[in-house]
Amino acid sequence: MPEKAEVWREQYRPSTISELVGLEKLKRDIKGWMKGNSVSRPTNLVRNAPAALLFAGPPGTGKTTVAEVIAREMFGQNEDLLATNFHEFNASDERGIDFIRDNVKQTARINPMGVSRKVIFLDEADGLTKPAQEALRRTMEKYSDKTMFILAVNSKPAIIPAIQSRCVTYDFAPYSEAEVADLMGRLQKHLFRRFPTSARQPIFPSEWTDSYDLLHSATGGDLRQCVDLLQSTAKEPDALHERLVGLSRDLSNPALSVAMGDYESLRVELKRLSEGGLSNLEMLRRLHQFVRTLGMDAERFTSYSSVWGDFVMKATAWPLSSDDFIDYFVAALQVTSAVVTQEN
Ligand SMILES: Nc1ncnc2c1ncn2[C@@H]1O[C@H](COP(=O)(O)OP(=O)(O)OP(=O)(O)O)[C@@H](O)[C@H]1O
Ligand SMILES: [Mg+2]
Repeated sequence: MPEKAEVWREQYRPSTISELVGLEKLKRDIKGWMKGNSVSRPTNLVRNAPAALLFAGPPGTGKTTVAEVIAREMFGQNEDLLATNFHEFNASDERGIDFIRDNVKQTARINPMGVSRKVIFLDEADGLTKPAQEALRRTMEKYSDKTMFILAVNSKPAIIPAIQSRCVTYDFAPYSEAEVADLMGRLQKHLFRRFPTSARQPIFPSEWTDSYDLLHSATGGDLRQCVDLLQSTAKEPDALHERLVGLSRDLSNPALSVAMGDYESLRVELKRLSEGGLSNLEMLRRLHQFVRTLGMDAERFTSYSSVWGDFVMKATAWPLSSDDFIDYFVAALQVTSAVVTQEN
């Protein structure tokens, strides 16, 4: 595993609005909130922004990135203001009410320093228990004059209605083909801004930008997957195209394994695809495209489809490894198919 600094998804993570791909409405809104902001008049900072924001959507769509961009924009890229007024918590590690009382509430009540409001960012807030969310709601209400809250979640229904109604919600969605092409173009340009002319070189072969459509379909518009796939492919002109074509061809075998009820092969094939860089959600999406063309009998297709649908819903909120996800998916298919066989 490369050092953090060498991981592209961190190295090229946008830190300003203008570096963000897509998200046009949200970018316009952020600019509106920032109107009149200036580091020399810090009391104006964060003046027009809503009391609370909820960012909801699948993995790799920029929720964490945008929360950090907002903080940077609000505090004028001033490291001292940022360090004292931007507080980030990851709610997937600490899920209970004590975490809200001991950490979040204690932070929320502190007066902002040098700005009118500080920002508390609760990443992966759908991990919070219900009592923790109730306590969070009270904290949000009580300290809204000095603290702006940003919550990021994969699953919006996991957030209690009382919090949802206090937030301005932005739904993040997988990116389009054109946006994936934009991301590739921006990555290519990135080094040109950061290094002197003598050290400038493309970060991947320029031929790769032609494969944006295949990259889009292999990743399902998840920009983290896009960046990871680009970084982990050999930097040869044809390598990306070949890898992506391979990924798209490969779903016909697992689909046949579903139709044949060969679950051991299915498990092995899906794990191979996941190691090749295919996301859980995209794997399910394309598996289904193939399975539905195979003419399985109606009862077996129904039982497969109901398991498949459940796992589509689980895919974006799955907290463990892809291997674990595949084990569970295949086990669920196997159990359901055994029930169908017994009944017949
Ligand atoms: N709008 C964007 N513009 C440019 N790059 C982006 C954008 N959104 C995401 N990325 C890239 O994808 C990576 C992952 O994004 P991020 O961590 O913000 O996703 P997320 O929505 O928080 O995902 P998760 O639900 O898994 O936490 C970033 O480091 C960045 O490289
Ligand atoms: Mg995130």
